[in-house]
Amino acid sequence: MSSVETTLRIGGDLPVHRLGLGAMRLHSTTPAVRAASISTARRAVEIGVTFIDTADAYELGLNEEMLAEALHPYPDGLVIATKGGHARPGGAWVPLGRPEYLRQQAELSLRRLRVERIDLYQLHRVDPKVPFAEQIGALRQLRDEGKIRHIGLSQVSVDQLVEARRITPVVSVQNRYNLTDRASEAVLEYCQAHGIAFIPWLPIKPSVASDGPLAEVAARLDATPAQVALAWLLRRSPVMLPIPGTSSTRHLEENFAAAGLELSTKDYSGLDALVPA
Ligand SMILES: NC(=O)c1ccc[n+]([C@@H]2O[C@H](COP(=O)([O-])OP(=O)(O)OC[C@H]3O[C@@H](n4cnc5c(N)ncnc54)[C@H](OP(=O)(O)O)[C@@H]3O)[C@@H](O)[C@H]2O)c1
Repeated sequence: MSSVETTLRIGGDLPVHRLGLGAMRLHSTTPAVRAASISTARRAVEIGVTFIDTADAYELGLNEEMLAEALHPYPDGLVIATKGGHARPGGAWVPLGRPEYLRQQAELSLRRLRVERIDLYQLHRVDPKVPFAEQIGALRQLRDEGKIRHIGLSQVSVDQLVEARRITPVVSVQNRYNLTDRASEAVLEYCQAHGIAFIPWLPIKPSVASDGPLAEVAARLDATPAQVALAWLLRRSPVMLPIPGTSSTRHLEENFAAAGLELSTKDYSGLDALVPA
């Protein structure tokens, strides 16, 4: 077992295993694909995943419905986080942060997830056309009404995070981050300093090549490149909560096992140095 702490308390009161599951790749395009998605979601919980990330935008709500079908009534300790504020007109991704829209989407997520309160509701994207304070204010109102327990943000800067925290507590940030893309380093450091969970999306996809320095470390440790990429993230910060996305039960199990992979300081630093700070 790795000496890296495997539990993180989101918002101080939601303990989760630090290796979560990103549900975006669990599709419902055909009955057979949906059945496979349901069994992958169930397998995740069986092996110890306690944090699953979804969004209203994933197949326009079908992803949330699929998770509810797979896992409701939810076992104690399972946290399903969802997001709102990224619309999909014609398949495009368009930020839509008008307060009335965020409110409607949260209500629909409550219904699809079959819960009375969403544990973690994340603003999927900041809408540049709507005053930021109004978007955060809409989330605060949902929280005040008990419809959501905690507020998270996605793809934000440190300045936006600071501004949001003047309006309401923020317990998580979901930004793109991985071994080779550390544009959000300053946000991660801010989160670590303030005990805010940092949920890196795209945590492994750029790292799964079968050659290169990562693959060399993986071969030496009898692990896979994806596992090394995840172990590096877990060691990078105690607030890191990766949500690797997969449609494969085999990859799910492989990814979760990365929590038990110990990276030596030499390997950790060597990988760290692949991208200049
Ligand atoms: N906040 C945002 O704006 C935002 C944006 C994008 C995604 N997300 C969230 O973040 C989650 C993770 O992001 P992501 O799914 O885009 O990226 P990712 O987890 O880095 O990569 C997923 C890809 O890697 C493959 N993969 C997974 N495990 C593997 C393994 N062990 N070995 C080899 N290949 C493996 C998957 O294919 P297989 O299906 O074949 O395993 C899939 O193609 C999403 O599921 C979603 O919940 C959030």
